[in-house]
Amino acid sequence: MGKAVIETKDLTKVYDRKTACDKICLSVGEGQIFGFLGPNGAGKSTFVKMLIGLVKPTSGMASLLGSPIGDVFTRRRIGFLPENFRYQDWLTGQELLHYHAALSHMPREVRPKRIGEVLKLVKLEDAANFKIKTYSKGMQQRIGIAAALVADPDLLFLDEPTSALDPIGRMEVREIITSLRDRGKTVFLNSHLLSELEMICDEVAIIKDGRVIESGTLNNLLTGKIEVEVTAGNLNGLLDNRIADFGRVLKVDGSSFVIELANEEKIPTLASLIIRSGGRLYNLNRRKRTLEELFIDVVQGGDQ
Ligand SMILES: Nc1ncnc2c1ncn2[C@@H]1O[C@H](COP(=O)(O)OP(=O)(O)OP(=O)(O)O)[C@@H](O)[C@H]1O
Ligand SMILES: [Mg+2]
Repeated sequence: MGKAVIETKDLTKVYDRKTACDKICLSVGEGQIFGFLGPNGAGKSTFVKMLIGLVKPTSGMASLLGSPIGDVFTRRRIGFLPENFRYQDWLTGQELLHYHAALSHMPREVRPKRIGEVLKLVKLEDAANFKIKTYSKGMQQRIGIAAALVADPDLLFLDEPTSALDPIGRMEVREIITSLRDRGKTVFLNSHLLSELEMICDEVAIIKDGRVIESGTLNNLLTGKIEVEVTAGNLNGLLDNRIADFGRVLKVDGSSFVIELANEEKIPTLASLIIRSGGRLYNLNRRKRTLEELFIDVVQGGDQ
């Protein structure tokens, strides 16, 4: 991991009596796309708001880009798309971006060029001179992303950036996010769209009731166990005894079953057992766990 761009130690927020974030310790390396997920009300937005200075932490510490949170010079290197974006909708898209460019102290002479670039990036060039109140929901989300990007931040927080977008719009935003990573930027992403996160994140943390309950690289989290999906005929009771000896049978559905194996070497052994026993093997597929399965597992697992 490159140097840490976000670092928190025991970061805590208590609202009245509700503990929204409970001693969160996280480290996010430079150039990463980091996914922050958890059920509704888990404390995701509160955590981001503490980092960018909209909510005051109750206790704990945090630093962004090597400086303690609240540092004004660092703040200029940070972009933020809030979850409930409501901008000054009497402005045009272009005016909004000028306003954000000015807030970030971007030199006046470079603003028009940069604003043109981000409008193009989010595909709103043609709507630049319309008032935001005439924008569709997806267009409003795009102008929000443009506002977060206009100052070319080194660290970007996006709270549900694609919730209002259609599948093509989502794909385009994924491309924008990965192109930022290619340029060495760090992106901290909140989303409930787990299949999307799975496509682009390097690392994730899952929080529940304000606590981190799972974290790591996607690769480690999703490839830990070996699961194999098999479709075969003529098994003649093989499943109940000899196959079950191989590992935990997770699911049986007609002539298909899913089995968890201890190691990779069990895969060819299982295939030859089926064939030697007269079974007809139609499909054998090593499954990767999906982020959604992991999420449901760890979030529900905590309740049992
Ligand atoms: N300003 C506030 N005052 C009091 N309680 C709050 C405040 N903001 C959030 N909370 C509470 O803190 C908890 C965490 O809320 P938060 O918005 O951080 O969750 P979230 O993980 O972002 O949820 P979602 O997925 O629904 O966006 C919730 O129980 C919420 O009711
Ligand atoms: Mg939220």
